[in-house]
Amino acid sequence: MSTTHVSTVLVTGGAGFIGSNFCHMLAELRPDWRVVNLDALTYAGNLENLTALEGHPNYTFVHGDIRQPEDVRRALDAAGDPGQVGVVHMAAESHVDRSIQGGLPFVTTNVAGTQVLLDACRERGVARFVHVSTDEVYGSLGDAGFFTEETPLAPNSPYSASKAGSDLLVRAAFHTHGFPACITRCSNNYGPYQFPEKLLPLIIANAQEDKPLPIYGDGMYVRDWLFVRDHNEAILTVLEKGVPGEVYNIGGNNEMPNLRLVKQVLKELGKPESLITYVKDRPGHDRRYAIDASKIRRELGWEPRYTFERALPLTISWYQSQGEWLQRLRSGAYREYYSRQYGA
Ligand code: NAD
Ligand code: TYD
Repeated sequence: MSTTHVSTVLVTGGAGFIGSNFCHMLAELRPDWRVVNLDALTYAGNLENLTALEGHPNYTFVHGDIRQPEDVRRALDAAGDPGQVGVVHMAAESHVDRSIQGGLPFVTTNVAGTQVLLDACRERGVARFVHVSTDEVYGSLGDAGFFTEETPLAPNSPYSASKAGSDLLVRAAFHTHGFPACITRCSNNYGPYQFPEKLLPLIIANAQEDKPLPIYGDGMYVRDWLFVRDHNEAILTVLEKGVPGEVYNIGGNNEMPNLRLVKQVLKELGKPESLITYVKDRPGHDRRYAIDASKIRRELGWEPRYTFERALPLTISWYQSQGEWLQRLRSGAYREYYSRQYGA
């Protein structure tokens, strides 16, 4: 197994949930590296997530859109010597329910934006490119079995279809041009800084305020939950040790039905299960995701370090201590989305 030496990481989408955690992790684990964060600051991008890095000599924020070639070139200029640059591509429209309300932004950012980024990075000759994708590109599982890297792509939502499209463009850049890219596909993440439209921060925030917790359908949809720090350590491992052209699944063998997750959160918060409210199901709702992550464990030596029993209470107490952060996100434009989605 060989290691690629990069000294600068260009992160796209670094003001979002996973990206901001990734920037904090790099400052801790690779303090000598430079980090350039290219982010358009959509509703999901929040510079408040990164205040601890402001003024850090190795950290640069570039406000720009991956769909705009000149913005991407500005970020690459800031990153410097392309032979030392690794790109970690996280910028995306990421919420399934929003993609059901309207798919076009998902196509322009996730598909077209990825191609713009690939073209500019190839033109410059960056050393490595990691495309951060999702297990949702594989579609839905029945009661048994796991997604492997060989599972055919069968996305079911506009979000997952746009991510699958971007995966295919990254694959094509490797096969056609020898562009040194890897693809990662991870299961559902949880942890600090997640936008409160996603299940876990939404139910923590609602439960804290004794508001109803909207559960789609029968609540028996299964997701495979991984702590965001474990995901980010896996991405760093792929950046440094991944073989170009390869796909790596990332997951922690931690699948459970949504209802179990929600009841666990209520227990931790000391709130009653009567807050659980069954609402209209999501159309086309994938029944079960579960990841076989044996390839990245075997070939690159990554494994998760956080158990669910340890990381869930950490996550809940983080949101409990971030009341103002949460309130700011739950006000304004988010309220409009919430009433469209839940009719409240
Ligand atoms: P997020 O929605 O929290 O953050 C996305 C970030 O991308 C935001 O900061 C936003 O401003 C930025 N962005 C959006 N459009 C942009 C554009 N056109 N140009 C530049 N920046 C733009 O998303 P997240 O949950 O942090 O997910 C990050 C990546 O990881 C996504 O690619 C997602 O598909 C993937 N992923 C997420 C999960 C999960 O559970 N959250 C699991 C697997 C994979
Ligand atoms: P989500 O966090 O949107 O992630 P994804 O759809 O990408 O897996 O949803 C996780 C699960 O929780 C999914 O099965 C849908 C369900 N869910 C609800 O039951 N109620 C909600 O309000 C939300 C947002 C999600």
